[in-house]
Amino acid sequence: MDYGCGAGNLSHTLWERGFKPLGSDVSESFISLARETYPEIGFLKATSKDLFKMGLRFDAIVCAYSVIHLSPYMLQYALLDFKKLINRDGYLYLSLQNSLDDQDGYTWEKHSIPYRPEMNLWINTFTAFDIKYLLVHYGFEVIDISFRDPVENEFPFRKMFVIAKNNNTKPSIGSFYF
Ligand SMILES: C[S@@+](CC[C@H](N)C(=O)[O-])C[C@H]1O[C@@H](n2cnc3c(N)ncnc32)[C@H](O)[C@@H]1O
Repeated sequence: MDYGCGAGNLSHTLWERGFKPLGSDVSESFISLARETYPEIGFLKATSKDLFKMGLRFDAIVCAYSVIHLSPYMLQYALLDFKKLINRDGYLYLSLQNSLDDQDGYTWEKHSIPYRPEMNLWINTFTAFDIKYLLVHYGFEVIDISFRDPVENEFPFRKMFVIAKNNNTKPSIGSFYF
C-alpha cells in the first residue's frame, strides 16, 4: 500500500520492481491523475479507516511524505489503523521531515511552500526520538532510520526515512497526545 500516493509515481516504481502495489489518497484529483498515468496499477480514494473497513491487509505500507500532513490527532488514528492493516511481521516505511535541531522536538505548524511561497501547508516535523517513541507506543519496532539534507525547492528540513516492523506487541491503550 502506497498511502498518500499523490500522482502515483512511487506506486509505479514499486510496480516496476516487481511488487504488487495499491495506491490510496484522500484527494480525488490525485487519484484520477494516478489512474490516468498508470492504468496498470490500482488506486483508491480512501483514508486508512476506509481501507480497514474494506477488510484490506498489506505486507507493507509506504508513506512518502503523506503522514507529514496529518494533525497530531489524526496521526495517532492513522498509526492505529496501520497497525491493523499491516500483516504480522510486515513493514511500515515513512518519509518525514526531521526537526531542524533535535532541541526543537515535535512541531505541527504552517510552512510556506518553497516553490509557491504565497501558499502555506500544515506540516509535522519529528526528531528521531519522537518517531521512535510514537511507533513503539503503537506496536511497531523501529528497524532503521536514515537522513539526508534538503535539496532545492524542498521544505527546509532534513529528511528522515524510517523503516519499522509490525511486531507482536499490542498498541498502548489511550491517546498519545491528549
Ligand atoms: C507531499 S504529497 C506526497 C505524494 C506522494 N506520496 C509522493 O511522494 O509523491 C502528500 C500526499 O498526501 C495526501 N494526504 C494528505 N492527507 C492524507 C490522509 N489523511 N490520508 C491519505 N493521504 C493524505 C495528499 O493528498 C498528497 O497526495
